[in-house]
Amino acid sequence: MKLLVTGGAGFIGSHLSQALIDLGHSVVALDDLSTGTAKNISGLQGNSNFEFVQGSMLDEKVVRSLMKRVDGCLHLGAALGVQRILERPYESLVANTQGTEIAVKAAAELGKRFFLASTSELYGKNPQQPLTEESDRVIGSPQLVRWAYSEAKALDESVVQMFHGSHGLKFVTGRFFNTVGPRQSGAYGMVLPRFVGAAIKNEPLKVYGDGSQSRVFCHVSDAVHGVLKIFFDNKALGHAFNIGGEEEISMKALAERVIAVTKSSSTIEFVPYSKAYPAGFEETMRRVPDTTKLRTMTGWKPEFSLDAIIHDIEKYLRANS
Ligand SMILES: NC(=O)c1ccc[n+]([C@@H]2O[C@H](COP(=O)([O-])OP(=O)(O)OC[C@H]3O[C@@H](n4cnc5c(N)ncnc54)[C@H](O)[C@@H]3O)[C@@H](O)[C@H]2O)c1
Repeated sequence: MKLLVTGGAGFIGSHLSQALIDLGHSVVALDDLSTGTAKNISGLQGNSNFEFVQGSMLDEKVVRSLMKRVDGCLHLGAALGVQRILERPYESLVANTQGTEIAVKAAAELGKRFFLASTSELYGKNPQQPLTEESDRVIGSPQLVRWAYSEAKALDESVVQMFHGSHGLKFVTGRFFNTVGPRQSGAYGMVLPRFVGAAIKNEPLKVYGDGSQSRVFCHVSDAVHGVLKIFFDNKALGHAFNIGGEEEISMKALAERVIAVTKSSSTIEFVPYSKAYPAGFEETMRRVPDTTKLRTMTGWKPEFSLDAIIHDIEKYLRANS
C-alpha cells in the first residue's frame, strides 16, 4: 500500500514509517518539523519508497492532495508533551483538533483507511487502574490548561466515530501509553530521555513532586508493532486499543533504576511541581494500561523489558550526544 503518515518525522512516526517500508509499503510523510526533525528520517531519505513533504496538516489543500495519492493514512501529527502544551496551549489545541478534523474529513470523503493516534491522557486521573478501553474519563477542571490535550484527543476519537457513521470511514484508534525509545526528545517534558540524558552525564535526575506517581513504559518498536497489527486487520476496524507496556514503576524508583542500569554516579533531586511546570498543571498519580483487547484480538505482546528500554535509550543518547 501507499500510506500517508502525518507526523512522519516525529518520534513514533519515523519508526512507523521505517517499519511500513520494511514490510514493502511506500510512505509519504507529512511533517512541519515543529517537534519532529530531519535527523529522525535521515535513514529513510533516498529510499525510493519514502517521500517527505514538509508542510502543515492544518493546510487542507496539502492534506487533501496527499490523501488522494495514498491508500490510507496513519495520523500521528500532534502537539504533545506536558511542557509544550502548557507553554503553547492554543497552538497545540488547534493542531490536535483542526489538524485531525482535516485529515479525517479528507480520508472519509476519499474512502481511505485511517489510523488515529490517541493517548492514555484520555483517561485523565481515573483512580481505577488498570485502564481498559471502556474505562471512564476522569478529567480535571477546564481552567487547568493541561487537560486540553486530553480533551482534544477525546474529541478526535469522536470525530472518527462520526465520520464512520456518516461516510463509512474505516478507522482504528491506538491509545499510546508512555511510549519511549531512541529519537524521543526530552525537551518537551518526557521523563525517560530526561533521566537517561542526565544519568549519562552524571548530573542530578530531577524527579517532580515526591516521585510516588507511577507510569508503565512501552518501547517504540513494540508500540509500532501494535499499530501495524491493528491497522491491517479488518477485525480491528471501528475499535480503540490500548497500546502499552507491562511494568508499573514510580518516578522515584525509575530514577533509581536508570542510575543503576546506566552505572551512573548521578544523585536524585526532588523538584516541587510549582517549580517544574508553568501554572495549569495537575498530576496524574497512576496510569496503568490493560492491553488484553490488543493481545486477544491480534496476539500482540511487548518484547522489551524496562531495563532493555533504558539500555536502548542510553545507547542512542551516547551515540548522539
Ligand atoms: N510518545 C508518547 O508517549 C505518546 C503517548 C500518547 C500518544 N501519543 C501520540 O502519538 C503521536 C506521535 O507522538 P510522538 O511521541 O511521536 O511525538 P512527536 O512530537 O515526536 O510527533 C508528533 C509529530 O507531529 C508533527 N506536527 C505537529 N504539528 C504539526 C502540524 N501542524 N503539521 C504537521 N506536522 C505536525 C511534529 O513535528 C512531530 O514530528 C501523537 O499523535 C501523540 O499524541 C504519543
